[in-house]
Amino acid sequence: MSLLPLHLLGSPVLRRRSDEVKAVDDGVRRLVDDMFETMDASRGIGLAANQVGVARRVAVVDADGDRFEMIDPAILEADGQDTAEEGCLSIPEIYGDVTRPARIVLEALDRHGARYRKEATGLKARAIQHEIDHLDGILFFDHVSLIKRKLLLARWRRERKDEEGYIKEVRPAPARSE
Ligand code: NI
Repeated sequence: MSLLPLHLLGSPVLRRRSDEVKAVDDGVRRLVDDMFETMDASRGIGLAANQVGVARRVAVVDADGDRFEMIDPAILEADGQDTAEEGCLSIPEIYGDVTRPARIVLEALDRHGARYRKEATGLKARAIQHEIDHLDGILFFDHVSLIKRKLLLARWRRERKDEEGYIKEVRPAPARSE
């Protein structure tokens, strides 16, 4: 397994719709493994493939004690409404309140190409929707008001003013001493 560099806001791959996978092969399984490792090292609860520069419909989630991959995911049902703060590994240090359906039913393929369904609420439902948005080229702050989005973007540019490019190397997470 290997850590993959993260694509940050500004990278065009974050703004395009990613392609269907259809056939889950060893290459996709390796991508899934690398994405889990990269998400863990980044202390994220979700990661989409285009965030590591791969425009395919693959994402991983680790939320509310449930850890799973989603390949060619679709949301079959969505109801209720819930607002909470979100962040994104591709827009570090920027957070905003996002309103989304509170309960969803997900359908996706797993790493073996088997189709599964999963009902989710709370943080898990939010993470799933956030990652599927990524696969459609949508970022969390597209859901906040225009005024708020301008503020968040201005803050992002201010904090990035000394940085160049939009690729961020991920370092291994330090071993935890218990
Ligand atoms: Ni994100």
